[in-house]
Amino acid sequence: MSKVVVIGAGNVGATAAQYIVDRKLADVVLIDIVEGLPQGKALDLLQAGSPSNHDCSIIGTNDYADTKDADIVVMTAGIARKPGMSRDDLLKTNANIVQSAIKEAHKYSPNAIFLIVTNPLDVMTHLALKTTKLPMNRVLGMAGVLDSARFETFIAMELKVSVKDVRALVLGGHGDLMVPVTSLASVSGIPLLNLIKPDVLSNLIKRTQDGGAEIVSLLKTGSAFYAPGASVAFMVESILRDQNRLMTASVCPGGEYGLKDLFIGLPCVLGRSGVKKIVELDLTTQEMGDLNKSAAAIKESINKMNELLVAV
Ligand code: APR
Repeated sequence: MSKVVVIGAGNVGATAAQYIVDRKLADVVLIDIVEGLPQGKALDLLQAGSPSNHDCSIIGTNDYADTKDADIVVMTAGIARKPGMSRDDLLKTNANIVQSAIKEAHKYSPNAIFLIVTNPLDVMTHLALKTTKLPMNRVLGMAGVLDSARFETFIAMELKVSVKDVRALVLGGHGDLMVPVTSLASVSGIPLLNLIKPDVLSNLIKRTQDGGAEIVSLLKTGSAFYAPGASVAFMVESILRDQNRLMTASVCPGGEYGLKDLFIGLPCVLGRSGVKKIVELDLTTQEMGDLNKSAAAIKESINKMNELLVAV
C-alpha cells in the first residue's frame, strides 16, 4: 500500500484523507500542530472503514517521525485570512508554516512528491520547491483541478447536462486572475462556444473566479473543503496509479508558454514520477495575455514573500 501524509488535519486535510481512503488509494497519516485533532479525526475515519468497505490504515499524529517514507506529502496546514488581517500578514504566516512543515516532512520522506494546497497557492508551492530543492517534477500545487471543476459545474448547471460530459480547463494563478480557457472547453466534444451565449458565459466565468469567495460568504466561518479535498484525491490517484491524467496543476514551467521561475496553473500530465509533462496548448491572444497578467501577479507575490521572509 502506498503512503500519503496529509499535513493539517483541518477541513481540507481531513476531507482529502477521507476521499483518499474511500477510494482505497493509500494508507494515510494525518499530522497537525494541535494535539488530539489528527488522532481524533484519524480514529473516526478508521472506524468509517467497515461501512465504507476499506481497510486502509489511518494514523493521526503530532510527530513527524510517524510520517516517514511517504510516497506523497499533501500540505494543507495554514491559516485563513481573518478580519483585520492584511494579505501580507497572511502571506508571512502561511509562508512560515509551509517552510517549517515542509522542511520536517522532507527530512523524513526525501523521496516523496509534494502536493501543496495552502494559500496563496502558487507562491506557497514555489516556497516548497525552494525549501526542499527537489526536482521541479516532484513539487506541484492543487488549484487548477478545483477551479476547472467549479467552471465545469457552472457550465453543466447552465446547459442542464451531466457534469461528466463537460471538459474545461482553468489555467493561471489561483485567484482573481485565473484564466478559464473557453476556446477549448467542450461538452462531449462539442465546442462550448457553439452551445452558450457570450454574455451567459461571461457570468459563468465571473462566478468561477469568485468561486471560493461565494462559498466563504455562505459558510460565514471557514472556506470550501469538499471540492478541494476531492481535487486532491483526484491528483493523488493519477500519481499513485500512474494514470497519466491530463489536468491543470500549479507547476514550474521551464520556458513553456514563455514562462519560467514561478509556479502557475498549466495543463500537465500526472503520473508516478509526478509532473511528467507540461502540455502546450494553442491559446487565443486574449487567453495568452491573461495568462501573462496572472504570471506577473504571481511574480509580484513571490517578491513580496521573499522580502517578508528576509524581514523575519
Ligand atoms: N503544522 C501543522 N498543522 C498546522 C500548522 C503547523 N505549523 N499550523 C496550522 N496547522 C493546522 C491547524 O491546526 C488546522 O487544523 O492546519 C489546519 C488548517 O485547517 P483549517 O483551519 O480547517 O483550514 P482549511 O479549511 O483546511 O484550509 C487549509 O487549504 O484551501 C487552503 O486556503 C486554505 O490555506 C488554507 C488551507
